[in-house]
Amino acid sequence: MSEIEFHDVGAQYRRLKPRIDARIQAVLDHGRFIMGPEIRELEEKLAAYVGVKYCVGVSDGTTAMQVAMMALGIGAGDEVITTPFTFIATGEMIALLGARPVFVDIDPDTFNIDPARIEAAITKRTKAILPVSLYGQCADLDAINAVADRHGLAVIEDGAQSFGATYKGRRSCALSTIGTTSFFPTKPLGCYGDGGACFTNDDKLGPLMAQIRVHGQSRRYYHPIIGINGRLDTLQAAILLAKLETLPAEVAARARIGARYSEKLAGAVKTPGIAAHNTSVFAQYTIEVDNRDAVQAKLKAGGIPSAVHYPVTLNLQPAFGNLGQGEGSFPLAERAARRVLSLPMHADLSEPLQDRIVAAVRSAA
Ligand SMILES: Cc1ncc(COP(=O)(O)O)c(C=O)c1O
Repeated sequence: MSEIEFHDVGAQYRRLKPRIDARIQAVLDHGRFIMGPEIRELEEKLAAYVGVKYCVGVSDGTTAMQVAMMALGIGAGDEVITTPFTFIATGEMIALLGARPVFVDIDPDTFNIDPARIEAAITKRTKAILPVSLYGQCADLDAINAVADRHGLAVIEDGAQSFGATYKGRRSCALSTIGTTSFFPTKPLGCYGDGGACFTNDDKLGPLMAQIRVHGQSRRYYHPIIGINGRLDTLQAAILLAKLETLPAEVAARARIGARYSEKLAGAVKTPGIAAHNTSVFAQYTIEVDNRDAVQAKLKAGGIPSAVHYPVTLNLQPAFGNLGQGEGSFPLAERAARRVLSLPMHADLSEPLQDRIVAAVRSAA
């Protein structure tokens, strides 16, 4: 029986090898490994794909949020509203800048922040709202932007898992003040190391983020503002350029595989709730089950990998213990953290292998 991979970056590489190898070789030949010509080429193509004016390539998705918040002037004493049901990076960068993450519970169907609960969390210190577009579907950005507009707040979409997804026909990362993403190897658009990007239409924030990403410099060795070393590598940009050409096919394959899972698993487990105005890129295909540990153990015994994104909500992470928000503070997010289970998902997942996974989940759940 063939092996089932949770993600399959190897199969994708074999499919795209000639174009990826040629792009890598071109960088080795010109040798401009830092801020080489591929960076600008990629930024232009990504901005066009997303449908915004500015794209700034950065070293990873975590740094993308740091750069975005630095450009918005977020720092000590400020508050940033976000979801507790996300990867640590979302809350981590708020805290690293000296600001306080203020968590708001989720919509249990989409797992994204519930816009109806945001207003009650706004204080005089609130500077921004940072929704995450979890598992590949966008948060309800129009509703979030409406709350932000009433209070003069910026909105940063953490689109680390949703690059390529659409919301009411517009692309993730083009939906708010700033959108950020990650090109971690297993993301819908992934490189072969770390990578990320920030997106905006704002004529002040676009150039400012580009400046922050290179030590705040205006020109070489002149530094009017404090920045960081947050550059994207030229080699990673070259790999992303090769993969970007096939991204629409990749996104379509993920959508097809996700829809097929939902069709075949209906009735056996809770399948992902995708809002009618959304298309998901299924960075994760995540179901809900009552007896997760037992289901996961049975899948493992049958040679089927699965993963939990994420077992502990941010309010319950020791790193955020200082916020004093113990168990029961965000009941919907905490319930999701006990129930979610992600199944193998990648564009090269064949129907026979998917059928094996479906049969195993049906008998285990
Ligand atoms: C929701 C979310 N935000 C941020 C990140 C951070 O991205 P990176 O690993 O590129 O720093 C990730 C990465 O998995 C993520 O899933």
